Amino acid sequence: MRQNESETQVAVRVAGLSKAYGDLRALDGVSFEVPMRRVFAYLGPNGAGKTTTINILCGLLERDGGEVSILGRDVAADPVLVKSRIGVVTENSNLYPELHCRRNLEYTGELYGLSADRRRSRAESLLNDFGLMDKAGAPFGTLSRGMKRRLTIAAALMHEPEILFLDEPTTGLDVPSARSLRDLIRRIVGGGATVFLTTHNLFEAEELADEIVVLIGGRIVERGKVSDIKRRIGGARCLTVSFSQSVSGGDVLGVCPAIRNAELQDGALKFEASDLHDAIAQLVAFCNKENIRMNDIGIREPSLEDAFVSLLAGAGKSDGKDRP
Ligand SMILES: Nc1ncnc2c1ncn2[C@@H]1O[C@H](COP(=O)(O)OP(=O)(O)O)[C@@H](O)[C@H]1O
Ligand SMILES: [Mg+2]
Repeated sequence: MRQNESETQVAVRVAGLSKAYGDLRALDGVSFEVPMRRVFAYLGPNGAGKTTTINILCGLLERDGGEVSILGRDVAADPVLVKSRIGVVTENSNLYPELHCRRNLEYTGELYGLSADRRRSRAESLLNDFGLMDKAGAPFGTLSRGMKRRLTIAAALMHEPEILFLDEPTTGLDVPSARSLRDLIRRIVGGGATVFLTTHNLFEAEELADEIVVLIGGRIVERGKVSDIKRRIGGARCLTVSFSQSVSGGDVLGVCPAIRNAELQDGALKFEASDLHDAIAQLVAFCNKENIRMNDIGIREPSLEDAFVSLLAGAGKSDGKDRP
């Protein structure tokens, strides 16, 4: 069946998706689209419903309502076809600890029905691309955590899927392993695939993603390009000030109406200013009155983290911890 032009540009389309576990509405009318050949980040705190969504998209979990299409096909109506065109890496690896790395890859290829020749050549090139050639003969169970994650992703790519779903790919990895995995994700997209990743890590979303959706409590609270989201969260700018003597956030908030938020960070006070000019004028007035000096002052655009904190505050119910 020929798909129309717009359909071929959309990797994943979700409309009005809902899922409950008993009384808990894990997903409550979620809708979004994932463009092809991009990194799409599905961002949210723990318990937001990210894994539930990914499991439904990949046909691992049934939905209660709504529509899901992957590459123009309904995953529930066409599970075999859809699964042949996607790869999934969940939080736990499905590889065999006692099998060698190369054998794990070849065995995965076998499950996908690849010919023996194809299995061998795919395993060879993935071991190479993923920097795991010197571990080809090592049992999977003996690898470091970062290498295990890499091999699990390699296995999910054996059948050259068009979309790769990664559920919290860097969670639990040390900094260098997480960084090398992010490089790998960029290369996978450079090779023409679409990557759908979930993360609770704002830095990761900001680093990797072209488009993000922010999910809180089973609802989408924000979506778009990272830069647009930062802009939309307000003209709020962050000011970091170190004073010549100890000043509390409360001291400043009471007398500087242009400052919305104050928190202590590395010995300096970090403020969110609704208007930069007014905030600085009010800070200077405060300092003059109290006979305090500002030793250092830094101004920056809000990061995605700042945006996310504002969203959480606005949502008024989640603090980034698991919901009951
Ligand atoms: N199998 C399940 N049974 C009951 N509740 C579940 C189940 N799986 C997830 N939940 C709950 O659904 C909500 C969303 O979970 P999940 O999709 O795992 O969130 P995330 O991946 O964003 O951390 C959470 O409150 C979680 O406790
Ligand atoms: Mg999860």
